[in-house]
Amino acid sequence: MILRIATCRPLPEPDGDEDLLLKALQSAGINAQMVAWHDPAEWQRPAATVIRSTWDYIYDLEAFTRWATAVAVTSAMWNPLKVILGNLHKRYLIELAAHGVPVTPTLLLERGESVDIHAQCAVRGWRDVVIKPAVGAGSFETHRIAATSADADAVCRRLLAERDVLVQPYLDSVEHHGERALVWIDGEFTHAVRKSPRFAGGVESVSEALPIAPAERAVGEAALAAVGALGQDLLYARVDVAPDAAGQPVVMELELVEPSLFLLQHPTAMRRLVAGIARRLQRLR
Ligand SMILES: Nc1ncnc2c1ncn2[C@@H]1O[C@H](COP(=O)(O)OP(=O)(O)O)[C@@H](O)[C@H]1O
Ligand SMILES: [Mg+2]
Repeated sequence: MILRIATCRPLPEPDGDEDLLLKALQSAGINAQMVAWHDPAEWQRPAATVIRSTWDYIYDLEAFTRWATAVAVTSAMWNPLKVILGNLHKRYLIELAAHGVPVTPTLLLERGESVDIHAQCAVRGWRDVVIKPAVGAGSFETHRIAATSADADAVCRRLLAERDVLVQPYLDSVEHHGERALVWIDGEFTHAVRKSPRFAGGVESVSEALPIAPAERAVGEAALAAVGALGQDLLYARVDVAPDAAGQPVVMELELVEPSLFLLQHPTAMRRLVAGIARRLQRLR
């Protein structure tokens, strides 16, 4: 059976996992091809699908949702459709908080809503804030702004005209401790990297694999457990965490759709991913 790796073309930025994964799959005897999700002709043939670098879906969530739903009808797909659909919009942060998972404090604003952003931030005691789309990737339209500035109001209004928006307090821990991206492959934690802060227009910079504190891993596991993802045949997962103002790790992002997995940093994770894919393909025979 052919394996389609769903991507987008052109890629908004290079995918460090792509070549490594293709080579490793080939070595394992798996015939894998990169296929852009928005290229309809490619999705007629029967094949299994692994979603990876479909990063431009943030510009057309409806089309991507239709595509994923249609693919799942005719093809085995990982992560499973239910996991994908629950993770596209960052309202999942509010749901995680409701389940008692520590998350970055988050105000969700709906498209078209008119809001007094200065008052909303003042009542929460937020001085420095991050304003970003609720459907986002790659730091698209992600802005760090003083809550009392005219800019905060202008950016909110501009984004709200087109999309749902998240407002959060700026966690300055991203500058010293750093945001940690924790990776699970085939249901098991494999490794973590440190990511440097990145706002709209910036480039991503990541460390080698590095040890994490038990509390950071516990927050990641709590997030995965809260969305019931661990029981859902999860091929890959990433939970990004950073310390809050009190130094306690909180979820910044739960990535179950198209996360970079930093496979270069961890060959064992790569082998586990390929073995997980091989086992799933075997089950289809
Ligand atoms: N509340 C926040 N405090 C500090 N930095 C933030 C905050 N929210 C976002 N950032 C910075 O912006 C980057 C992108 O935001 P994130 O929520 O990860 O969205 P995405 O990766 O989907 O674009 C983060 O990796 C981090 O560097
Ligand atoms: Mg992120």
